[in-house]
Amino acid sequence: MATMENLIGLVNRIQRACTVLGDYGGGDNSFSSLWEALPSVAVVGGQSSGKSSVLESIVGRDFLPRGSGIVTRRPLVLQLHKIDDGSEEYAEFLHIPRRKFTNFAYVRQEIQDETDRVTGKTKQISPVPIHLSIYSPNVVNLTLIDLPGLTKFAVEGQPESIAQDIETMVRSYVEKPNSIILAISPANQDIATSDAIKLAREVDPTGERTFGVLTKLDLMDKGTNALDVLEGRSYRLQRPWVGIVNRSQADINKNTNMTVARRKEQEYFATSPDYAHLASKMGSEYLAKLLSKHLESVIRSRIPSITSLINKTIDELESEMDHLGRPIAVDAGAQLYTILELCRAFDKIFKEHLDGGRPGGDR
Ligand code: GDP
Ligand code: NA
Ligand code: MG
Repeated sequence: MATMENLIGLVNRIQRACTVLGDYGGGDNSFSSLWEALPSVAVVGGQSSGKSSVLESIVGRDFLPRGSGIVTRRPLVLQLHKIDDGSEEYAEFLHIPRRKFTNFAYVRQEIQDETDRVTGKTKQISPVPIHLSIYSPNVVNLTLIDLPGLTKFAVEGQPESIAQDIETMVRSYVEKPNSIILAISPANQDIATSDAIKLAREVDPTGERTFGVLTKLDLMDKGTNALDVLEGRSYRLQRPWVGIVNRSQADINKNTNMTVARRKEQEYFATSPDYAHLASKMGSEYLAKLLSKHLESVIRSRIPSITSLINKTIDELESEMDHLGRPIAVDAGAQLYTILELCRAFDKIFKEHLDGGRPGGDR
């Protein structure tokens, strides 16, 4: 049903509008509760485990700073919006609202610059997120959060507390019950030592909101395979494990494009004696669909609570718009209006959905 996709799209836009308003009215308002009630996907793993690469594969574009060492130093809240109006793919940052980026090399540069603006050109981290939206016909509606990699040691230029600081930051995202955890582990390291799994196990002991992702399958020692992990025998999760082959550093240096990389990844699974029987459930394209579907079912099951929050927000916004008891900036006023419209649209679609049959039911 097209309706469900519209709902996720709306949820995305509501989240975005809530973010724009930020702590308008002082932090603890219905916008922040609404944002918290909506699910998003947090990408968690050790340094260089392949987090940014997995995100890029899901988006199907090159746009993230990548490489060895600590590259991701601020959370990146990435919202994917599927568009069908025939317009071209573009990206937009919350901190530069009126600029549309169509060249993704500039997106990468801006992420770097904006990171440096807050942290300086250091190896330090900051919990202040960067918000980026990508509008494209080729994405599924999703909110993904790229986070600094978990690490054990400080390197030169970092405070001794860095490992703990990163863990605290990552934890603040994944401990929220509405957070879906994308736990990234590299296949060329023992899964028992995976930082991602260790943290996921702590915050989600039943494994109901954790998706295990195994990267670097191509880098395993010859004669070994990852079937014990992928088939759930090493570490059991309620969700399926997904194996991934991202671009290697050599591929990146050669500028191998994303379409070629995805095709190579599919070929890798289809022709592998170890993994051919799992090929249809492996790879980044499959992962993107799996996540979107999961998000859909989470939203579906939360429709009653989301709707009541939305109705509360509508009430608050309507009285706010009526009285405008205090002067508000033009921009804030416009955003309030946007949220109001989006909330009404959500409410309307939800009611149609109800009329169409099974509220919150499964397919
Ligand atoms: P992050 O630090 O977790 O965000 O990791 P990155 O995505 O930046 O990847 C770190 C390095 O590992 C890069 O040089 C990638 O090219 C490489 N890499 C990531 N995933 C794979 C993979 O599946 N196979 C291979 N061969 N290299 C990978
Ligand atoms: Na890295
Ligand atoms: Mg990274």
